[in-house]
Amino acid sequence: MSQHSVEKSICTVRDALAEAKSVVVLSGAGISAESGVPTFRGQGGLWRQYRATDLATPEAFARDPKLVWEFYNWRRELLEPLRPNAAHLSLAKLENRLSSFVLITQNIDGLHQMAGSRNVLELHGNIWKVRCTACGRLTEDRRVPLPLLPTCEDCGALLRPHVVWFGETLDPGILDRAYEEVLRCEVMLVIGTSGTVQPAASMGMLAGRNGALVVEINLEPTPYSDIYSVSIAGKAGEIVPQLF
Ligand code: OAD
Repeated sequence: MSQHSVEKSICTVRDALAEAKSVVVLSGAGISAESGVPTFRGQGGLWRQYRATDLATPEAFARDPKLVWEFYNWRRELLEPLRPNAAHLSLAKLENRLSSFVLITQNIDGLHQMAGSRNVLELHGNIWKVRCTACGRLTEDRRVPLPLLPTCEDCGALLRPHVVWFGETLDPGILDRAYEEVLRCEVMLVIGTSGTVQPAASMGMLAGRNGALVVEINLEPTPYSDIYSVSIAGKAGEIVPQLF
């Protein structure tokens, strides 16, 4: 993508955002990359000899909850010192200017909220929250490391990380709200997601079919780049602050 066409695309999006009353953002791991969070499909690395996909499953937790919790303690330790970058901060400012703004994220790092975003729908949960495996009680717990094994204050059962694991379904209430917003927005920004994991991957397409201007911001082309109204190649931390 030439510099000229990047600038032209940025102008198109700027004009659309200046007019828009309702905006939805869908973010993925790429928006947090410049904060130091490894992406899923970049080189994520192994923890001990395990791949994340082997431990972030209900089966792994049933088999060995301590091992899975040790893995999450390691991930919490990696995330604890990280701070929001320019992309997160710009989106928090955009929210203040609009009457209708919803940020749908696949990220579990909590960096959007730390940047000041308020209306956030976390499709895949939040690593700083713990959930009781028996009564479902949900609480925030930012201790690093979390003393193992954590148990519920109410019923004494084992707590688990409040994240969606491979093979689990998303919270239907959150998903319904996300679809509702996607279907009624005028502009949708799709930032730093590879578009490989459903249902988030097809949300941009749905918004586009319903008449929204859909804008992708990604370092690399994705399977959806040609379908969206505008696709801008670049780093989220550099492009997003220029959009409004
Ligand atoms: P991926 O790791 O699949 O994709 C990250 C995307 O961000 C890639 O398309 C990169 O090109 C792009 N990217 C990297 N750095 C960037 C930057 N600085 N600026 C802009 N774009 C950048 O992450 P997700 O799409 O979020 O689910 O992955 C979706 C889901 O897959 C995750 O939420 C996770 C995983 O399975 C669960 O854990 C349930």
